[in-house]
Amino acid sequence: DTLWLVVPAAGRGRRMGAERPKQYLTLAGRPVMAHTLARLHQAFPTARLCLCLDPDDRFFDPAWVPFTHWQRVSGGAERADSVGGALDALAGEAGVEDLVLVHDVARPCVTVEDLQRLVMALRQDAVGALLAAPAADTMKRDDGNGRVACTEPRQGLWHALTPQGFRYGLLCRALAAARHDGVAVTDEASAIEALGMAPRLVAGRRDNVKITHPEDLALAERVLAAQQA
Ligand code: C5P
Repeated sequence: DTLWLVVPAAGRGRRMGAERPKQYLTLAGRPVMAHTLARLHQAFPTARLCLCLDPDDRFFDPAWVPFTHWQRVSGGAERADSVGGALDALAGEAGVEDLVLVHDVARPCVTVEDLQRLVMALRQDAVGALLAAPAADTMKRDDGNGRVACTEPRQGLWHALTPQGFRYGLLCRALAAARHDGVAVTDEASAIEALGMAPRLVAGRRDNVKITHPEDLALAERVLAAQQA
């Protein structure tokens, strides 16, 4: 069966405050996006890629795409809209039981081993799965005024990472329902959860960092160097 990769890359990276979106900043000599696509391709050389780009994007270079079968689609206002647009573009091509992995372009440090372990878990799971890392810090909830309202028990809390993988039909249904019900979803798993289903947590490496703030670029560079050592 076909493995589909959806890579939302239509964000404008406002929190970075850089002159170009973060996926186009240079990390160890190459754009962030080139690293991310290379890792995905190393793990799944025959997968089909759907890349969500800002329709006004001025920085993308197709030379960074190592896949034979790929297409670009226009991203939407929010991440979930970009992913929804990609799923729409696959209608007619993807089968309802095909696996779809969604991976943030801003996570270039994901390892081939984690990618393959996630897909192995997915193949044995009817609901779907995501890479996640147990929370290491004590978690506080604020009161809206800069003071601690309470401490959330850390036991059992996880950071949701990407990729997250689901069967095409289920993911389409979940995202459509979330949109219809006005549920804000910041990842695919939360749309599945809103249907009353429980995605599997697959423990992944903590160094699968998401580049969000300026200092994350240097962090990702150290992670890549350490992984290659
Ligand atoms: O904003 P954040 O860093 O959480 O975005 C996560 C991912 O979603 C990034 O890869 C970003 O490019 C993508 N995104 C998108 N369309 C949007 C907003 C974000 O594809 N409208």
